[in-house]
Amino acid sequence: MLNSVFKPIHFDTTKLEFHASCGEGLDVFLQHEVKSFGLKIISSNRGGVYFETRDSSKLSNFLLNTRFSSRVSFSLTKILAETPDELYEKSKKLPWEKIFPLKSSFKIDSTTKDTLKHSQFAMYRLKDAIMDRLREYSRDDVFIERDNPDMVILLRSSQNFVNIQISITSDPFHKRGYRLESVTAPIKETTAQALLEFSGWNGDDVIIDPMCGSGTILIEAALLIKKEFLNHYLIFKSKVYSMLFDEIPKNRIDHEAKKLFYGFDNDKRAIEIAKENAKRAGVDDLIHFEVLDILDLTKDENLKSGFIVFNPPYGERLGTEEELKELYKKIGEIFRNEFKGFKISLVCGNKSLLGQFKLKETNSMNLSIAKQKAKFVNYEIHE
Ligand SMILES: C[S@@+](CC[C@H](N)C(=O)[O-])C[C@H]1O[C@@H](n2cnc3c(N)ncnc32)[C@H](O)[C@@H]1O
Repeated sequence: MLNSVFKPIHFDTTKLEFHASCGEGLDVFLQHEVKSFGLKIISSNRGGVYFETRDSSKLSNFLLNTRFSSRVSFSLTKILAETPDELYEKSKKLPWEKIFPLKSSFKIDSTTKDTLKHSQFAMYRLKDAIMDRLREYSRDDVFIERDNPDMVILLRSSQNFVNIQISITSDPFHKRGYRLESVTAPIKETTAQALLEFSGWNGDDVIIDPMCGSGTILIEAALLIKKEFLNHYLIFKSKVYSMLFDEIPKNRIDHEAKKLFYGFDNDKRAIEIAKENAKRAGVDDLIHFEVLDILDLTKDENLKSGFIVFNPPYGERLGTEEELKELYKKIGEIFRNEFKGFKISLVCGNKSLLGQFKLKETNSMNLSIAKQKAKFVNYEIHE
Protein backbone atom coordinates (compact mmCIF):
# COMPACT_ATOMS: atom_id res chain seq x y z
CA MET A 1 0.00 0.00 0.00
CA LEU A 2 2.70 2.44 1.10
CA ASN A 3 4.72 1.64 -2.01
CA SER A 4 2.01 2.94 -4.31
CA VAL A 5 1.22 6.20 -2.50
CA PHE A 6 4.59 7.21 -1.16
CA LYS A 7 6.43 10.00 -2.95
CA PRO A 8 9.56 11.35 -1.30
CA ILE A 9 10.23 15.08 -1.28
CA HIS A 10 12.37 16.44 -4.06
CA PHE A 11 14.27 19.39 -2.60
CA ASP A 12 14.95 22.52 -4.64
CA THR A 13 18.71 22.96 -4.31
CA THR A 14 18.53 26.63 -5.27
CA LYS A 15 16.59 27.36 -2.08
CA LEU A 16 18.77 25.42 0.32
CA GLU A 17 21.69 26.44 2.49
CA PHE A 18 24.56 23.95 2.41
CA HIS A 19 27.35 23.31 4.85
CA ALA A 20 30.68 21.70 3.95
CA SER A 21 32.63 20.69 7.04
CA CYS A 22 36.35 19.98 7.18
CA GLY A 23 39.16 19.02 9.51
CA GLU A 24 40.65 21.78 11.61
CA GLY A 25 43.09 23.88 9.65
CA LEU A 26 41.78 22.71 6.27
CA ASP A 27 39.21 25.55 6.15
CA VAL A 28 41.50 27.72 4.02
CA PHE A 29 41.69 24.97 1.38
CA LEU A 30 37.94 24.38 1.58
CA GLN A 31 36.97 28.07 1.21
CA HIS A 32 39.13 28.31 -1.87
CA GLU A 33 37.65 25.11 -3.28
CA VAL A 34 34.02 26.16 -2.69
CA LYS A 35 34.69 29.44 -4.52
CA SER A 36 36.49 27.67 -7.35
CA PHE A 37 33.31 25.65 -8.08
CA GLY A 38 31.35 28.91 -8.44
CA LEU A 39 29.36 28.47 -5.21
CA LYS A 40 28.46 31.47 -3.07
CA ILE A 41 29.94 31.48 0.42
CA ILE A 42 27.53 32.73 3.09
CA SER A 43 29.90 32.42 6.02
CA SER A 44 32.82 30.30 7.13
CA ASN A 45 34.78 29.36 10.22
CA ARG A 46 37.43 26.83 11.19
CA GLY A 47 34.89 24.00 11.05
CA GLY A 48 33.78 24.63 7.48
CA VAL A 49 31.85 26.75 5.01
CA TYR A 50 28.14 27.64 4.61
CA PHE A 51 27.23 28.23 0.98
CA GLU A 52 24.34 28.44 -1.50
CA THR A 53 23.94 28.35 -5.26
CA ARG A 54 21.37 29.04 -7.94
CA ASP A 55 23.00 26.49 -10.24
CA SER A 56 22.46 22.86 -9.28
CA SER A 57 25.05 21.59 -11.78
CA LYS A 58 27.74 23.55 -9.91
CA LEU A 59 26.61 21.93 -6.69
CA SER A 60 26.61 18.43 -8.15
CA ASN A 61 30.06 19.05 -9.62
CA PHE A 62 31.32 20.14 -6.21
CA LEU A 63 29.85 17.10 -4.42
CA LEU A 64 31.41 14.70 -6.87
CA ASN A 65 34.82 16.31 -6.76
CA THR A 66 35.38 18.00 -3.41
CA ARG A 67 38.82 17.12 -2.05
CA PHE A 68 38.73 18.86 1.33
CA SER A 69 35.17 18.49 2.69
CA SER A 70 34.64 15.78 5.25
CA ARG A 71 30.86 16.07 4.95
CA VAL A 72 28.37 18.18 3.00
CA SER A 73 24.87 18.68 4.40
CA PHE A 74 21.91 20.94 3.83
CA SER A 75 19.75 22.70 6.35
CA LEU A 76 16.25 21.28 6.72
CA THR A 77 15.16 23.85 9.27
CA LYS A 78 16.47 26.36 11.77
CA ILE A 79 14.40 26.72 14.90
CA LEU A 80 14.50 28.42 18.25
CA ALA A 81 14.43 25.81 21.01
CA GLU A 82 15.31 26.61 24.60
CA THR A 83 14.55 23.15 25.98
CA PRO A 84 14.67 19.57 24.67
CA ASP A 85 10.84 19.48 24.90
CA GLU A 86 10.58 22.56 22.67
CA LEU A 87 12.94 20.84 20.25
CA TYR A 88 10.59 17.80 20.31
CA GLU A 89 7.46 19.86 19.66
CA LYS A 90 8.92 21.92 16.83
CA SER A 91 10.80 19.13 15.07
CA LYS A 92 7.72 16.88 15.16
CA LYS A 93 6.00 19.38 12.86
CA LEU A 94 8.50 18.60 10.06
CA PRO A 95 7.21 16.29 7.29
CA TRP A 96 9.52 13.37 8.20
CA GLU A 97 7.11 10.93 6.54
CA LYS A 98 7.96 12.52 3.18
CA ILE A 99 11.66 12.91 3.86
CA PHE A 100 12.73 9.31 4.43
CA PRO A 101 12.92 7.03 1.40
CA LEU A 102 11.05 3.74 1.52
CA LYS A 103 12.52 1.12 3.88
CA SER A 104 15.30 3.36 5.03
CA SER A 105 17.38 3.70 8.16
CA PHE A 106 18.88 6.73 9.84
CA LYS A 107 20.99 7.93 12.71
CA ILE A 108 21.33 11.31 14.40
CA ASP A 109 24.67 12.95 14.97
CA SER A 110 24.28 15.59 17.66
CA THR A 111 26.63 18.41 18.69
CA THR A 112 24.90 20.95 20.88
CA LYS A 113 25.93 23.66 23.30
CA ASP A 114 24.49 26.51 25.36
CA THR A 115 20.76 26.06 26.14
CA LEU A 116 20.65 22.50 24.79
CA LYS A 117 23.93 21.53 26.40
CA HIS A 118 23.24 17.79 26.78
CA SER A 119 23.85 16.58 23.21
CA GLN A 120 22.75 13.06 23.95
CA PHE A 121 19.44 14.12 25.50
CA ALA A 122 18.70 16.55 22.66
CA MET A 123 19.43 13.72 20.23
CA TYR A 124 16.93 11.42 22.02
CA ARG A 125 14.22 14.11 21.91
CA LEU A 126 14.74 14.66 18.18
CA LYS A 127 14.68 10.90 17.63
CA ASP A 128 11.39 10.66 19.60
CA ALA A 129 9.88 13.49 17.52
CA ILE A 130 10.87 11.78 14.25
CA MET A 131 9.69 8.32 15.29
CA ASP A 132 6.39 9.62 16.75
CA ARG A 133 5.66 11.57 13.57
CA LEU A 134 6.49 8.56 11.40
CA ARG A 135 4.20 6.35 13.50
CA GLU A 136 1.34 8.81 13.04
CA TYR A 137 1.78 8.48 9.28
CA SER A 138 2.16 4.67 9.39
CA ARG A 139 5.74 4.85 8.18
CA ASP A 140 6.89 1.80 10.10
CA ASP A 141 9.40 0.99 7.35
CA VAL A 142 11.87 3.57 8.72
CA PHE A 143 14.19 2.49 11.50
CA ILE A 144 17.23 3.62 13.44
CA GLU A 145 20.62 2.12 12.64
CA ARG A 146 23.88 3.21 14.21
CA ASP A 147 26.47 1.50 12.03
CA ASN A 148 25.42 1.71 8.42
CA PRO A 149 22.43 4.05 8.11
CA ASP A 150 20.97 5.23 4.80
CA MET A 151 20.70 8.77 6.16
CA VAL A 152 22.50 10.85 8.75
CA ILE A 153 20.58 13.70 10.40
CA LEU A 154 22.80 16.34 11.98
CA LEU A 155 21.60 18.25 15.02
CA ARG A 156 23.65 21.39 15.66
CA SER A 157 22.87 24.07 18.19
CA SER A 158 24.39 27.11 19.78
CA GLN A 159 22.72 29.62 22.09
CA ASN A 160 19.00 28.78 21.67
CA PHE A 161 19.20 28.27 17.96
CA VAL A 162 18.94 24.75 16.46
CA ASN A 163 19.94 23.75 12.95
CA ILE A 164 18.66 20.36 11.73
CA GLN A 165 20.60 19.23 8.68
CA ILE A 166 20.62 16.24 6.36
CA SER A 167 23.99 14.90 5.30
CA ILE A 168 24.22 14.20 1.58
CA THR A 169 26.32 11.07 2.05
CA SER A 170 26.01 8.74 5.02
CA ASP A 171 29.75 8.14 5.23
CA PRO A 172 32.09 11.10 5.47
CA PHE A 173 33.86 11.98 2.23
CA HIS A 174 37.21 10.65 3.35
CA LYS A 175 35.76 7.11 3.40
CA ARG A 176 36.09 6.66 -0.31
CA GLY A 177 35.66 2.94 -0.03
CA TYR A 178 39.09 1.71 -1.09
CA ARG A 179 40.66 1.56 2.36
CA LEU A 180 39.32 -1.66 3.76
CA GLU A 181 42.51 -2.51 5.58
CA SER A 182 44.72 -0.22 7.50
CA VAL A 183 48.12 0.13 9.10
CA THR A 184 49.28 2.17 12.09
CA ALA A 185 48.53 5.90 11.84
CA PRO A 186 47.19 6.26 8.28
CA ILE A 187 46.69 9.82 7.06
CA LYS A 188 43.07 10.86 6.43
CA GLU A 189 42.23 11.00 2.71
CA THR A 190 41.06 14.65 2.91
CA THR A 191 44.28 15.62 4.74
CA ALA A 192 46.30 13.80 2.06
CA GLN A 193 44.49 15.87 -0.59
CA ALA A 194 45.28 19.07 1.32
CA LEU A 195 48.95 18.07 1.62
CA LEU A 196 49.11 17.41 -2.14
CA GLU A 197 47.57 20.84 -2.78
CA PHE A 198 49.96 22.47 -0.32
CA SER A 199 52.96 20.79 -2.01
CA GLY A 200 52.22 22.62 -5.28
CA TRP A 201 52.20 19.34 -7.26
CA ASN A 202 50.45 19.98 -10.55
CA GLY A 203 49.77 16.46 -11.74
CA ASP A 204 52.75 16.16 -14.09
CA ASP A 205 55.68 15.35 -11.83
CA VAL A 206 56.71 12.10 -10.22
CA ILE A 207 55.77 11.67 -6.54
CA ILE A 208 57.68 9.43 -4.16
CA ASP A 209 56.27 8.52 -0.74
CA PRO A 210 59.21 6.83 1.02
CA MET A 211 57.17 5.91 4.15
CA CYS A 212 53.89 5.16 2.42
CA GLY A 213 52.18 2.88 4.96
CA SER A 214 48.81 1.94 3.45
CA GLY A 215 49.55 4.14 0.41
CA THR A 216 46.95 6.86 1.03
CA ILE A 217 48.92 9.86 -0.30
CA LEU A 218 49.83 8.16 -3.60
CA ILE A 219 46.38 6.61 -4.07
CA GLU A 220 44.78 10.04 -3.55
CA ALA A 221 47.20 11.62 -6.05
CA ALA A 222 46.51 8.87 -8.58
CA LEU A 223 42.72 9.20 -8.11
CA LEU A 224 43.03 12.91 -8.80
CA ILE A 225 44.61 12.44 -12.18
CA LYS A 226 42.81 9.28 -13.19
CA LYS A 227 39.20 9.42 -12.08
CA GLU A 228 36.62 11.76 -13.41
CA PHE A 229 34.86 12.00 -10.03
CA LEU A 230 36.70 11.62 -6.73
CA ASN A 231 33.55 10.93 -4.65
CA HIS A 232 31.57 8.93 -7.17
CA TYR A 233 31.44 5.84 -4.98
CA LEU A 234 29.92 7.71 -2.02
CA ILE A 235 27.44 9.68 -4.11
CA PHE A 236 26.42 6.49 -5.91
CA LYS A 237 25.50 4.91 -2.55
CA SER A 238 23.70 8.03 -1.25
CA LYS A 239 19.90 7.94 -0.92
CA VAL A 240 19.85 11.69 -0.25
CA TYR A 241 21.55 12.65 -3.53
CA SER A 242 18.50 11.50 -5.50
CA MET A 243 16.28 13.85 -3.42
CA LEU A 244 18.34 16.74 -4.77
CA PHE A 245 19.27 15.71 -8.31
CA ASP A 246 17.52 13.76 -11.04
CA GLU A 247 20.37 11.45 -11.93
CA ILE A 248 23.76 10.35 -10.75
CA PRO A 249 26.38 11.14 -13.38
CA LYS A 250 28.32 8.13 -14.60
CA ASN A 251 32.05 8.08 -14.10
CA ARG A 252 33.35 8.52 -17.59
CA ILE A 253 36.18 6.48 -19.07
CA ASP A 254 39.43 6.74 -17.16
CA HIS A 255 41.94 9.20 -18.45
CA GLU A 256 45.05 7.79 -19.98
CA ALA A 257 47.59 8.24 -17.23
CA LYS A 258 51.18 7.13 -16.87
CA LYS A 259 52.98 5.67 -13.89
CA LEU A 260 54.08 8.62 -11.81
CA PHE A 261 53.93 7.31 -8.28
CA TYR A 262 56.41 5.35 -6.16
CA GLY A 263 55.68 4.13 -2.64
CA PHE A 264 58.13 2.52 -0.23
CA ASP A 265 57.92 1.32 3.35
CA ASN A 266 60.13 -0.96 5.44
CA ASP A 267 57.05 -2.84 6.69
CA LYS A 268 56.21 -5.73 4.35
CA ARG A 269 52.62 -5.93 5.58
CA ALA A 270 52.09 -2.19 4.93
CA ILE A 271 53.20 -2.64 1.32
CA GLU A 272 50.84 -5.60 0.85
CA ILE A 273 47.97 -3.48 2.19
CA ALA A 274 48.96 -0.48 0.04
CA LYS A 275 48.91 -2.68 -3.09
CA GLU A 276 45.51 -4.08 -2.14
CA ASN A 277 44.10 -0.58 -1.46
CA ALA A 278 45.42 0.75 -4.78
CA LYS A 279 43.76 -2.14 -6.58
CA ARG A 280 40.42 -1.40 -4.87
CA ALA A 281 40.74 2.26 -5.80
CA GLY A 282 41.41 1.25 -9.43
CA VAL A 283 44.79 2.98 -9.59
CA ASP A 284 47.21 0.08 -9.07
CA ASP A 285 48.49 0.48 -12.64
CA LEU A 286 49.81 3.94 -11.74
CA ILE A 287 51.72 3.16 -8.55
CA HIS A 288 54.81 1.09 -7.93
CA PHE A 289 54.98 -0.14 -4.32
CA GLU A 290 58.05 -1.84 -2.88
CA VAL A 291 59.47 -2.84 0.51
CA LEU A 292 62.44 -0.55 1.19
CA ASP A 293 63.99 1.18 4.18
CA ILE A 294 64.12 4.94 3.70
CA LEU A 295 67.80 4.83 4.61
CA ASP A 296 68.40 2.82 1.40
CA LEU A 297 66.45 5.25 -0.78
CA THR A 298 68.29 6.43 -3.89
CA LYS A 299 67.16 8.48 -6.84
CA ASP A 300 66.86 7.18 -10.37
CA GLU A 301 69.64 8.95 -12.29
CA ASN A 302 67.24 9.99 -15.05
CA LEU A 303 64.99 11.84 -12.64
CA LYS A 304 65.98 15.50 -12.55
CA SER A 305 63.07 16.71 -10.47
CA GLY A 306 59.96 15.53 -8.67
CA PHE A 307 58.15 15.55 -5.36
CA ILE A 308 58.61 13.61 -2.16
CA VAL A 309 55.31 13.78 -0.26
CA PHE A 310 55.01 11.84 2.97
CA ASN A 311 53.98 11.62 6.56
CA PRO A 312 56.90 10.32 8.62
CA PRO A 313 56.34 8.55 11.95
CA TYR A 314 56.22 10.86 14.96
CA GLY A 315 54.04 9.34 17.65
CA GLU A 316 55.00 7.13 20.57
CA ARG A 317 53.47 4.14 18.83
CA LEU A 318 56.03 4.48 16.03
CA GLY A 319 59.27 4.90 18.02
CA THR A 320 60.89 6.67 20.97
CA GLU A 321 61.79 10.37 20.63
CA GLU A 322 65.54 9.52 20.52
CA GLU A 323 65.09 6.87 17.81
CA LEU A 324 62.98 9.22 15.76
CA LYS A 325 65.48 12.10 16.11
CA GLU A 326 68.25 9.84 14.78
CA LEU A 327 65.99 8.67 11.91
CA TYR A 328 65.01 12.25 10.94
CA LYS A 329 68.70 13.29 10.96
CA LYS A 330 69.59 10.51 8.52
CA ILE A 331 66.56 11.22 6.32
CA GLY A 332 67.68 14.88 6.08
CA GLU A 333 71.14 13.74 4.90
CA ILE A 334 69.63 11.48 2.23
CA PHE A 335 67.41 14.27 0.92
CA ARG A 336 70.30 16.76 0.80
CA ASN A 337 72.69 14.35 -0.90
CA GLU A 338 70.45 12.30 -3.18
CA PHE A 339 67.47 14.44 -4.12
CA LYS A 340 68.84 17.66 -5.55
CA GLY A 341 66.15 19.40 -7.64
CA PHE A 342 63.31 17.79 -5.64
CA LYS A 343 60.55 19.42 -3.64
CA ILE A 344 59.68 17.81 -0.32
CA SER A 345 56.35 18.11 1.47
CA LEU A 346 55.31 16.48 4.67
CA VAL A 347 52.84 16.50 7.49
CA CYS A 348 54.22 15.99 10.95
CA GLY A 349 52.67 16.03 14.40
CA ASN A 350 55.90 16.63 16.30
CA LYS A 351 57.44 19.93 15.21
CA SER A 352 60.53 19.45 17.37
CA LEU A 353 61.68 16.54 15.17
CA LEU A 354 61.72 18.64 12.00
CA GLY A 355 64.87 20.57 13.00
CA GLN A 356 66.80 17.28 12.69
CA PHE A 357 66.45 17.40 8.89
CA LYS A 358 68.71 20.47 8.75
CA LEU A 359 66.70 21.74 5.79
CA LYS A 360 65.36 25.25 5.31
CA GLU A 361 61.55 25.43 5.17
CA THR A 362 60.14 27.07 2.04
CA ASN A 363 56.76 27.51 3.72
CA SER A 364 54.60 25.86 6.35
CA MET A 365 51.14 25.94 7.89
CA ASN A 366 49.61 24.71 11.12
CA LEU A 367 46.64 22.39 11.34
CA SER A 368 45.31 19.87 13.77
CA ILE A 369 45.05 16.14 13.29
CA ALA A 370 42.89 14.11 15.65
CA LYS A 371 42.84 17.17 17.93
CA GLN A 372 46.69 17.25 18.04
CA LYS A 373 48.73 20.13 16.66
CA ALA A 374 50.41 19.28 13.36
CA LYS A 375 52.21 21.07 10.58
CA PHE A 376 52.46 20.94 6.76
CA VAL A 377 55.98 21.85 5.63
CA ASN A 378 57.58 22.34 2.20
CA TYR A 379 61.32 22.20 1.48
CA GLU A 380 63.24 22.59 -1.75
CA ILE A 381 66.53 20.81 -2.33
CA HIS A 382 68.49 23.09 -4.61
CA GLU A 383 71.03 21.81 -7.13
C1 LIG B 1 52.70 7.65 9.85
S1 LIG B 1 52.94 6.17 8.97
C2 LIG B 1 52.51 6.60 7.31
C3 LIG B 1 51.08 6.36 7.07
C4 LIG B 1 50.66 6.52 5.63
N1 LIG B 1 50.75 7.88 5.15
C5 LIG B 1 49.25 5.99 5.42
O1 LIG B 1 48.35 6.73 5.05
O2 LIG B 1 49.02 4.80 5.70
C6 LIG B 1 54.69 6.05 8.88
C7 LIG B 1 55.19 4.86 8.10
O3 LIG B 1 56.61 4.91 8.12
C8 LIG B 1 57.07 3.57 8.03
N2 LIG B 1 58.48 3.55 8.44
C9 LIG B 1 59.02 3.72 9.69
N3 LIG B 1 60.35 3.64 9.65
C10 LIG B 1 60.68 3.45 8.34
C11 LIG B 1 61.91 3.31 7.64
N4 LIG B 1 63.09 3.34 8.29
N5 LIG B 1 61.89 3.14 6.29
C12 LIG B 1 60.71 3.11 5.62
N6 LIG B 1 59.50 3.20 6.23
C13 LIG B 1 59.49 3.38 7.57
C14 LIG B 1 56.14 2.81 8.95
O4 LIG B 1 56.15 1.43 8.62
C15 LIG B 1 54.79 3.50 8.68
O5 LIG B 1 54.07 2.78 7.70
